[in-house]
Amino acid sequence: MARKLIAGNWKMNGLSADGTALASALADRLEAGPAPSCDLLVCPPAPLLPLIKQAIGSATIAVGGQDCHAKESGAHTGDLSARLLADVGCSHVIVGHSERRSDHGESSADVKAKAEAAMVAGLVPIICVGETEEDRNAGRALTVIQDQIERSLPEAGSNAGAFVVAYEPVWAIGTGKTATPQDVAEVHRAIHTLLQAGFGEATAAATNILYGGSVKPDNAAELMAVEQVGGALVGGASLKAEDFWAIARSCP
Ligand code: PGA
Repeated sequence: MARKLIAGNWKMNGLSADGTALASALADRLEAGPAPSCDLLVCPPAPLLPLIKQAIGSATIAVGGQDCHAKESGAHTGDLSARLLADVGCSHVIVGHSERRSDHGESSADVKAKAEAAMVAGLVPIICVGETEEDRNAGRALTVIQDQIERSLPEAGSNAGAFVVAYEPVWAIGTGKTATPQDVAEVHRAIHTLLQAGFGEATAAATNILYGGSVKPDNAAELMAVEQVGGALVGGASLKAEDFWAIARSCP
């Protein structure tokens, strides 16, 4: 498996001073060392991207967008193209986050189109999937995830390492509830098997499958040790440099 990726999803939080302070604090920690054994990524609110790039300076922290449009350009008021994200220095973009799926009615077909647009622009899409609490209680978590994986991922091709999948159970996001390591293992195994079937062994082996949903310093080590967990997508705890750093340092 590739090096683990610890990604911070800042969502709609913070103003320029908060973002630059957070990015500088992370860069300082990286410089002081010891460096974590994972790759680091922060996804700030889009208008802050150039400022955050600047605050990070030469530290090896990647920056990403939180969403992109499927089209390259045009009359899409308020949207951002993947090309623009790449142009301002992003290497990644989150697509299909459950908050986008629910707040903006994004379907898996929309998510797939965004993921493909991101790849065309040279970005690595982080494609999110996850069941609701209702799905899990009804015993259909794996069915829902299989359907989202089959419909949200790009068409198979030479895709090794070109995209990341994030398993984020909707009921665990921002709630303080986390999936058990057993549940995470089961879902990550299922996603890995779907990747093997759809994309072949090499792509499945090179694709990070992140876990997201109330990842904190005190549960990160346990979650990051689960088989087929290739990192974390962190919301709330990514807003504090100390917590985000502790999560990164807990990668084996
Ligand atoms: P959380 O968010 O860590 O605050 O639960 C995770 C996410 O939505 O990516």
